[in-house]
Amino acid sequence: MEKIMILSEIQEVVRECGQLMLRADHAHAGVENKGKYNDLVTRYDKAIQDILQKRLLDIAPDAHFLGEEENVHESIAKGRAFVVDPIDGTTNFVKDYKCSVISVAMTMDGEVTLGVIYNPYLDEMYTAQKGKGASCNGIPIHVSDHVLHEGIVLYGSASYYRELIDESFRLLRLCADEAMDIRRSGSAAWDLCTIAAGRAEMFFELRLQPWDFAAGSLLVTEAGGTVTCVDGSPIAIGKPCSILAKGTQVDDAFMRK
Ligand code: IPD
Ligand code: CA
Ligand code: CA
Ligand code: CA
Repeated sequence: MEKIMILSEIQEVVRECGQLMLRADHAHAGVENKGKYNDLVTRYDKAIQDILQKRLLDIAPDAHFLGEEENVHESIAKGRAFVVDPIDGTTNFVKDYKCSVISVAMTMDGEVTLGVIYNPYLDEMYTAQKGKGASCNGIPIHVSDHVLHEGIVLYGSASYYRELIDESFRLLRLCADEAMDIRRSGSAAWDLCTIAAGRAEMFFELRLQPWDFAAGSLLVTEAGGTVTCVDGSPIAIGKPCSILAKGTQVDDAFMRK
């Protein structure tokens, strides 16, 4: 019961933040870089994180908070925590490319128990509760049961880590041989929603942060899919890692040859 209430309160605040994204004044977004020329942040990323931090901690005052922006990086190893990406797909947002989402996970002792991802451009609200399945706008979702030969691979370019470009392209080349086609959305959390909804068969990216994948990893597993690191080892929610998410019939052994 408590979790259902928390889930609906998270959806309410995330939906409000989505309205901020839709109404954004892109000419005055206050774009800055965070050290690397392509690692951008805007005043909207910061404002949405501030709103989420305040409202989520009103809902659960005992919780720790791990958000991408403004160095709010508390440990999530013990007790309850929120893991938040205020805008996943900031480069898309800066370009007004209209493919960015808000991602909120709730964890208990380092395990994700609730996940909410909202795409305001499509008005799609994805939710998952550990052990209770995943849904989009209240309708249950399931991963694809197609093999990769009849499938699409979603590729994340890990573009803040230039040292990974060669290996990313090597793997992408392998995927091009196995799948029908390849896509790059610019939002890892959205890619995980796309896998959870069965709209594509496999997603990989060589380095992601906890806020990129915490909520989305629960969506995929609750929709019947699998999420591991690219080498097949288990993911750890509190640390950066590579991510490979897939539907039920994808054989990803070719990624490790
Ligand atoms: C990024 C997006 C992008 C992925 C990057 C992420 P941000 O998050 O998810 O798709 O390729 O690795 O860091 O910076 O837009 O929140
Ligand atoms: Ca970012
Ligand atoms: Ca992100
Ligand atoms: Ca972000």
